[in-house]
Amino acid sequence: MPPQLKRLLPAFIIFILLFLILKHFLTPETFGEKGHYRYSSIAEVQQTQMKYAGKDKCNECHDDIVENLDMDVHAGLSCETCHGPGLMHAENDGEYEIIIPSEREMCALCHSMNVSRSTREIVQVNILEHNSGKKCIDCHNPHMPWELKE
Ligand code: HEC
Ligand code: HEC
Ligand code: HEC
Ligand code: HEC
Repeated sequence: MPPQLKRLLPAFIIFILLFLILKHFLTPETFGEKGHYRYSSIAEVQQTQMKYAGKDKCNECHDDIVENLDMDVHAGLSCETCHGPGLMHAENDGEYEIIIPSEREMCALCHSMNVSRSTREIVQVNILEHNSGKKCIDCHNPHMPWELKE
């Protein structure tokens, strides 16, 4: 064995021991029990409450709106992207309040000019200039944006 390796050997052993000790203390308890993940995380995730119902669920009572939405440029959007979590509303026959986002800010989330956004993917308007002072939905139907109201 070359002499320099002899000197390096203890260093390697120290590194490996250090690694094993740290691994022992830093790995969460149930990690690796069923696979390369922390097994107890499943129980934790199961405890979080469902909030979203999904477009198919909305379709059960609002099929007219789903149909309109799917015909126009907003077809790719989910109802709850704008209306927020709707599971409680859907499970209580519409009795539970749901958000109606009527402010300009909501549309601006996606349509305001932003240099980091591709104009090929999404049409952008200058929010400060494009018919300022009015709500977007005074003119655009949010479900069918090209159905202008006036
Ligand atoms: C079980 C039937 C049912 C389901 C499922 C359902 N809704 Fe409704 N929804 C209603 C009823 C009933 C109303 C009240 C209708 C009215 O007042 O004209 C309503 C009203 C609304 C309103 C207007 C609320 C208001 O304050 O005027 C919105 C927005 C809405 N629903 C969105 C949704 C979305 C989004 C979903 C899917 C997550 C959904 N709904 C699923 C029954 C349902
Ligand atoms: C781009 C955002 C957006 C999306 C996506 C969207 N909505 Fe709406 N929705 C609105 C806004 C804004 C209003 C209020 C319209 C108004 O007051 O003129 C509204 C109004 C409503 C209303 C009450 C008034 C009406 O038109 O009957 C219902 C019910 C509703 N939406 C259901 C849905 C359902 C179901 C979907 C999915 C198929 C959906 N919305 C998708 C923004 C959206
Ligand atoms: C979650 C993101 C999102 C929100 C919120 C949103 N939109 Fe859109 N909008 C889109 C996408 C995606 C398209 C399809 C791509 C495109 O044409 O820009 C679109 C298309 C449009 C178009 C057609 C543009 C064109 O010439 O092709 C109009 C007009 C429009 N939206 C108006 C609105 C209005 C008004 C609101 C608020 C009520 C709104 N949008 C809210 C994502 C959004
Ligand atoms: C007074 C009515 C009115 C209001 C309010 C209004 N729009 Fe428009 N919008 C129009 C008309 C008309 C057009 C088509 C002509 C044009 O491009 O100006 C249009 C075009 C658009 C387009 C497509 C632009 C393009 O280059 O193809 C988008 C996206 C849009 N509006 C989003 C919005 C958003 C978001 C709001 C609210 C912040 C809004 N509009 C408010 C009437 C309106």
